[in-house]
Amino acid sequence: MDREQAKSGYQKLSFSQLSESISQTNWLKPLIFDQVTSTNDVAVENLNLVSPGAGIVVIADEQTKGRGRLDRKWSTPPGSGIAMSIAMSTDDFKAELSAVPLICGLAVNRALNSLEISSYLKWPNDIVFADEKESKKPLRKAGGILAQLINDRLIIGIGLNVALVKNDLPVSNATSLNLEGFQVDRNELITKVLEEINYLRKTNNSWLEEYKKACVTLNKNISVVNNSGESLTGTAVDVSPSGALVIKNLENLYQVTVGDIGHFEAT
Ligand code: BTN
Repeated sequence: MDREQAKSGYQKLSFSQLSESISQTNWLKPLIFDQVTSTNDVAVENLNLVSPGAGIVVIADEQTKGRGRLDRKWSTPPGSGIAMSIAMSTDDFKAELSAVPLICGLAVNRALNSLEISSYLKWPNDIVFADEKESKKPLRKAGGILAQLINDRLIIGIGLNVALVKNDLPVSNATSLNLEGFQVDRNELITKVLEEINYLRKTNNSWLEEYKKACVTLNKNISVVNNSGESLTGTAVDVSPSGALVIKNLENLYQVTVGDIGHFEAT
């Protein structure tokens, strides 16, 4: 890293270092770019390269049309974040298919925690910072996952704000690793995340207890709006092996599979 890069938090992606470490997974073929519209779109364009046991990972330094969950935009200016998409056969994970996005979120969280970065998960797979796990203060979001299923191919897009500064961030509750006080090498972090995913994909249900420990949504009073705009409030009491959030409202239990969660304290 030269002095200008160090000052701005900018670090180049090392195509050679990444290619070498990724090929060690014996699972993913790396496709690395300076700039793409969206790594998920490039992964979809290259699904012909994917077969059971042989996936691809698309990594880009910059995205010009990055997409988030629920049709939101996702901003990845040059040199500022991790933008990568894994395209794989649905057979490549042992766990239930609907749980794979949560497991990939757990993999990112494990990679960060292994670098002594104290991140958590907000259901289903937001990477967040909180003053402490039980804190009632607003969460700060640094990353997330966008999953797409096309026939028997699964695309897992991972976005993580690494060196973004306040002006780059689209919403007030967004943050980056640098803003939280952590300096990381993107090449090292990408490698760790992929190693964690490659490990967790071979496990069955052992992800669940660890996920629950890292999940700040559990035991909180929450409201969730599903895809149809319906709202449900209650206490988040569990996560199922399929990745659904279990919400208790009075004496009734509801399973939510998709939605945007708001955490709040009942008055
Ligand atoms: C979210 O809204 O929480 C999910 C954000 C996912 C962003 C990543 S960046 C890499 C991949 N390419 C995209 O266009 N989106 C995902």
